[in-house]
Amino acid sequence: MSAKVLLARIIYWFAGLKEDPHELFSRIGVEKDDEILEMGCAIGFHTFPLADLAEDGKVYAVDISEEFIDYMERKSKNEGYENIVPLCEDAEEIGLENEDLDKIVCFDTLHELEDPGNGLRDMLDHLRSNGLFLYRDPEISVEKILEYSERNLVYVEEIKRTHVFKKK
Ligand SMILES: C[S@@+](CC[C@H](N)C(=O)[O-])C[C@H]1O[C@@H](n2cnc3c(N)ncnc32)[C@H](O)[C@@H]1O
Repeated sequence: MSAKVLLARIIYWFAGLKEDPHELFSRIGVEKDDEILEMGCAIGFHTFPLADLAEDGKVYAVDISEEFIDYMERKSKNEGYENIVPLCEDAEEIGLENEDLDKIVCFDTLHELEDPGNGLRDMLDHLRSNGLFLYRDPEISVEKILEYSERNLVYVEEIKRTHVFKKK
């Protein structure tokens, strides 16, 4: 296991003491057959709970880091998750063909993109109308997200530090 993955495992072990992603995504209303894109999945702290809830759907787990995606591939296979699709891609050039996703999850990742506005609009092209954009990033405000989306998003509510937007 690489030092990067080991560090991420330690960080998420501590994160697990403070947050229960199953509870978060249940409250937000992730459904059994949801098709979800998680941008910046890292080692799957949020991905696996999403996949547990969307058991008949699909979770596209995207990250630019090959190490993280290798880890995600191994762990998904070892634990028998057939509904997780790990993809090593840049958020600003998403190769995904699905343009009808039910939800997009983007936690603490947008600020790492070269052009966050461009990355956000690219992601939103893959979200269906009325689909939810679930967002966290202390470095980029809700108002900025609305601006970047070119007013294609409507703010719904905040649930456990997660901003919920709906696509028009
Ligand atoms: C701070 S971590 C957040 C991970 C996770 N979403 C969370 O909330 O704990 C940011 C993640 O975004 C990924 N990332 C950075 N730039 C990216 C890009 N251009 N495209 C896709 N993923 C990217 C990093 O590799 C890293 O896994």
